[in-house]
Amino acid sequence: MSAALPVIRPFHLSDLPALYRICLLTGEVGGDATALYRDPDLLGHVYAGPYPVADPGLTFVVVDELGPVGYIVATADTARFDQWLESHWWPTLRSRYPLREDPRDGTEDHVLVARIHEGSAADESLLDRFPAHMHIDLLPRAQGRGFGRRLVETLAAELRGRGVPGLHLGVDSRNAGAIAFYTRVGFTEAARHDWGRTLALDLT
Ligand SMILES: CC(C)(COP(=O)(O)OP(=O)(O)OC[C@H]1O[C@@H](n2cnc3c(N)ncnc32)[C@H](O)[C@@H]1OP(=O)(O)O)[C@@H](O)C(=O)NCCC(=O)NCCS
Repeated sequence: MSAALPVIRPFHLSDLPALYRICLLTGEVGGDATALYRDPDLLGHVYAGPYPVADPGLTFVVVDELGPVGYIVATADTARFDQWLESHWWPTLRSRYPLREDPRDGTEDHVLVARIHEGSAADESLLDRFPAHMHIDLLPRAQGRGFGRRLVETLAAELRGRGVPGLHLGVDSRNAGAIAFYTRVGFTEAARHDWGRTLALDLT
């Protein structure tokens, strides 16, 4: 007999297209970002794809009868992950997506293309205590049912098992629902920026 669905399970490579789709469908302050991007893969290239490729053991998915409906992706060591991106992920994408002007038509591909060219800029002051970082996204039909909390708990258990002392993430200040969620599951504010907040979770 099969397990009751939805379930949380480890990432499998066949989940990758669904992760990209979910990333796009939740990429505009938690809502559908499809209208913002001409290239539907750009958000996934930055915020979803590299994590399970670099370390598949730190991605978990929520799956229902139609396939993946949510995920958590993470790296245990942000500084090492940034080095990995520089050598294995960004170079091919920089060739594929040359820098471009803002077309002034409301689309934001150019913002993510610039991000691909700039590379990552981790807040080094956080990395001793909170070296891991994560992203989490659930489709609307999977939200509000406890899967977000369970995904964070699943990831936290895996990171603790690896001896990682803490986890951080960035959240847009307009995403009040996500900030409320992170606070409920134990994150506290580590820094405030013009774009939002860095939140952190102590795993010790
Ligand atoms: C934010 C998100 C990951 C939360 O996951 P979820 O499965 O909906 O949340 P859960 O059902 O596990 O809720 C866990 C706790 O957070 C609270 N919570 C969740 N969403 C909330 C919201 N929008 N407002 C207030 N509280 C919220 C719940 O009430 C619950 O509290 P409790 O367990 O203490 O009773 C999910 O809604 C989501 O993917 N949203 C769209 C994408 C997004 O914004 N991602 C984050 C980008 S930084």
